[in-house]
Amino acid sequence: MRINQTSAIITGGASGLGEACARAFREAGAQVVIFDRDTKRGVDVAAEIGAGFAQVDVTDEASVAAGIKLAVTYMGKINACVNCAGIASGEKTVGRDGPHALDSFQRTVNINLIGTFNVLRLAAAEMAGNAPNEDSERGVIINTASIAAFDGQMGQVSYAASKAAIAGMSLPVSRDLARNGIRIMAIAPGLFLTPMLEGLGQEIIDGLAVDVTFPKRLGKPAEFASLAQFIIENGYLNGEVIRIDGALRMR
Ligand SMILES: NC(=O)c1ccc[n+]([C@@H]2O[C@H](COP(=O)([O-])OP(=O)(O)OC[C@H]3O[C@@H](n4cnc5c(N)ncnc54)[C@H](O)[C@@H]3O)[C@@H](O)[C@H]2O)c1
Repeated sequence: MRINQTSAIITGGASGLGEACARAFREAGAQVVIFDRDTKRGVDVAAEIGAGFAQVDVTDEASVAAGIKLAVTYMGKINACVNCAGIASGEKTVGRDGPHALDSFQRTVNINLIGTFNVLRLAAAEMAGNAPNEDSERGVIINTASIAAFDGQMGQVSYAASKAAIAGMSLPVSRDLARNGIRIMAIAPGLFLTPMLEGLGQEIIDGLAVDVTFPKRLGKPAEFASLAQFIIENGYLNGEVIRIDGALRMR
């Protein structure tokens, strides 16, 4: 799919990796509507880059359905969906205060996994009504996993489980949506310098960068966005997970 013929919704588009996609896609001539629960940042970013904004909680069915309606009105159609909304979490299976709280585990899975699926299923249903392009394609979906899906660290059980499930969705969803002409891919980022990590402070960030094989630095959000754009443009990528991590293997 050509990027200048792309009408994309981007969840988590008010910050970090999603914001970088929104900026890069607009720059390349795509139409964009940002979905985020953070209205302040979402409205500011959207106004700056000439995108639409919908206040959406990805875990809420009615909220996502309303966002999709707004996006179709704003762009005329949706043929790309990039799911970046997500939260980090840290808690051990059994910690000093006892077993992992069940509600915090459920919250992480609810936002990262169920939120992603909620948006992708409603976006796919909308895309299925598009006219196919010259490659019989009606849409592209990109989910954001994490290398924690494969090398989850101590204290990352809820996060790693939610991201492993996102990686696991790629193949079955690609099979489900083949007859609709919709591709799906997941990106598994290593460590990227976004507000999610910036809060850790420079010393911890420098410590994290040491483990990256090459280059010895955190990823730039623009590098994630450029991979997302490549996935949209390359019609033969489907049903797979791509790591983008400077060969980092977390221990
Ligand atoms: N930064 C990294 O190093 C890294 C590494 C691997 C994976 N990821 C994943 O990439 C994605 C983006 O992360 P980021 O670093 O850009 O984080 P970020 O905190 O900068 O951005 C996340 C955005 O998601 C939004 N959001 C959270 N919950 C939401 C909800 N329920 N409904 C709607 N919007 C919601 C937030 O408001 C925020 O704007 C996440 O899924 C994260 O797990 C990030």
